[in-house]
Amino acid sequence: KDIDIIVYDEIDSTNTEAKRRLYSSDVKDFTVIVSDMQKGGRGRTGKSFASPKGSGVYFSIILHPKDFYDFSYFDLTTVKAAVAVVEGIKEATGKVAQIKWVNDLFINGRKICGILSELDADFESRSVKSVIVGIGINVNEPKDDSFKDLKDIAGYIGTDVIRNEILSSILNAFYENNYEKKDKEIIEYYKTHSLVIGKDLTFELNGKKYTAKGVDINDKGNLIVDTGEKRITLSSGEVSIKGD
Ligand code: BTN
Repeated sequence: KDIDIIVYDEIDSTNTEAKRRLYSSDVKDFTVIVSDMQKGGRGRTGKSFASPKGSGVYFSIILHPKDFYDFSYFDLTTVKAAVAVVEGIKEATGKVAQIKWVNDLFINGRKICGILSELDADFESRSVKSVIVGIGINVNEPKDDSFKDLKDIAGYIGTDVIRNEILSSILNAFYENNYEKKDKEIIEYYKTHSLVIGKDLTFELNGKKYTAKGVDINDKGNLIVDTGEKRITLSSGEVSIKGD
């Protein structure tokens, strides 16, 4: 299937551009917006996402489901995206990333990819109209000194990797995950590449701090943890791996 890919040399944020274009009549389902750099890359929880020129792959995919979907569609879309990025990076580079729930990707203990999914939804009826899936991957370490603060934090896939190959492999995998593969198969893949299953985790829920073991990912992509006394299902939020 042909998809539209809109390419920029620079932009504020591909997610913001996707939002600006969301309902213009010529935007098809699965339109991709990609930029060589972002001046205002956005991360989750209001953080910024450093997006130096030539160093990463920064893109957003607009999904317009044909019918209105329940919120669980949105949760699974993020799972499908995380799995597609692992698959795409593996195909293009041979490197295998692991997924830290919900959707950060790590290689050798360093974060190499973050995903910011945003939705346009009717909160009363819990139905999703459109989803923007924004994916940022650190490919090569930036040469520019202004990013040296990232040195001890960010990870990079490696130097001799062609960014376009990573992008095309991920887009193919994400397309298959959305329209061809069974959800069950995708969740299985997610689980086998999970960084949190079997680990002691810390997190906050309703203002209370917990330590619990990650035990499973359910069919909605929620994380199930065991405190020793009870099991808790987490549908969103951040967890930390104890000792990291
Ligand atoms: C995170 O790690 O918290 C999520 C980072 C998401 C970054 C990507 S880069 C492409 C797209 N455009 C943005 O402004 N953010 C996402």
